[in-house]
Amino acid sequence: MIILAIETSCDETSVAIVENATHIHALVINSQIDLHKAFGGVVPEIAARSHIEVMLPVINQALDEAKMSFDDIDAIAVTQGPGLLGSLLIGVLTARVLSWTLDKPLIPVHHIIGHVYANWLTSGPKYKTPYPTKKPEFPVLALIVSGGHCQLMLGTDHNNWSVIGRTQDDAVGEAFDKVAKILGLPYPGGPSIATSAESGDPEKYRLPTPKVSGKYDFSFSGLKTAVLRSVQYTCNVNYDFPSFKLSELLNDQQKADFSASFQKTAVDYLVTKTKLAFDEFDPKTVVIGGGVAASLPLRSTLSKALPIDIEYAPQILCTDNAAMVGARSYFQSVSSEVANPVNLEVKPSWPLL
Ligand code: KG4
Ligand code: ZN
Repeated sequence: MIILAIETSCDETSVAIVENATHIHALVINSQIDLHKAFGGVVPEIAARSHIEVMLPVINQALDEAKMSFDDIDAIAVTQGPGLLGSLLIGVLTARVLSWTLDKPLIPVHHIIGHVYANWLTSGPKYKTPYPTKKPEFPVLALIVSGGHCQLMLGTDHNNWSVIGRTQDDAVGEAFDKVAKILGLPYPGGPSIATSAESGDPEKYRLPTPKVSGKYDFSFSGLKTAVLRSVQYTCNVNYDFPSFKLSELLNDQQKADFSASFQKTAVDYLVTKTKLAFDEFDPKTVVIGGGVAASLPLRSTLSKALPIDIEYAPQILCTDNAAMVGARSYFQSVSSEVANPVNLEVKPSWPLL
């Protein structure tokens, strides 16, 4: 079954053509990062306008790359939520029109479940890091870590996923982005902190490990504030000193040391919680997904902490992309989870459970 999938939940306009949840015939990701960089984060109105401009060219490019026409496509999949309202609308309306006019089934996908299913893709275009050699086996423990989400999920089969832990406040990716802003490093924060951390000392600044009551829950707002206070202390300024001016007072080595110290604390915390869940639920496979899953320090620390082999998706499939949506939608199509193209609505705050 060949599915054309669309993902527009945030600031990436992405279209993929995926076969049977395993093979990527084409994946196009039009990133808007350059449009949002000047603002230090995603501006929803700018994101929606950009999706409108590039949606059709991105679809055509995906068909060209796959050397296919609409006749080769069996179904249309789309991210229905959660995400930015204006961004989701462009993807969902496009998918509805394609489904209606081409008379193909329409499959709505939950963005977070989509991130999990990036791990089912085992072949396609060559990327910097390789595909997993085999698909995950249930029960699956999934750590989903992105700019908007941070949760541990357990799946016993394709139709039964439960959330066993979640963040009580900020998502880990958001903490990476905010800390990068304090340090004057470019958006998005994850990759720029990773680069800066390479020349830093992770033990230089002692940051607290967050504490929460739920055994598998997370918290990142305190860690973010701890970095801010530590930078203020290091720069010898008061709490009311404008945070956007702090980075001018730091030298490159201090920035690298803060990056390394923050990254290590955040990664160790994610891995500790995942190990706790692993010990209790005894899954056959552990997968990670979401933008922060692209982090190489997270991958190596997790692999060392767990007694089973972990295979990771290519980094490009961790950040937002339509291939993961195409992979997940396949399993929904086989259980006939299709939507009406006439009235499918977006779900900007679609809870997972
Ligand atoms: O999944 P994603 O593309 O969008 C959301 O659904 O949020 O995740 C984006 C997040 C950003 O916060 C970004 O800083 C983070 O993923 N990120 C990383 C890395 N690459 C992206 N965090 C740590 N290390 C990376 N290499
Ligand atoms: Zn995402």
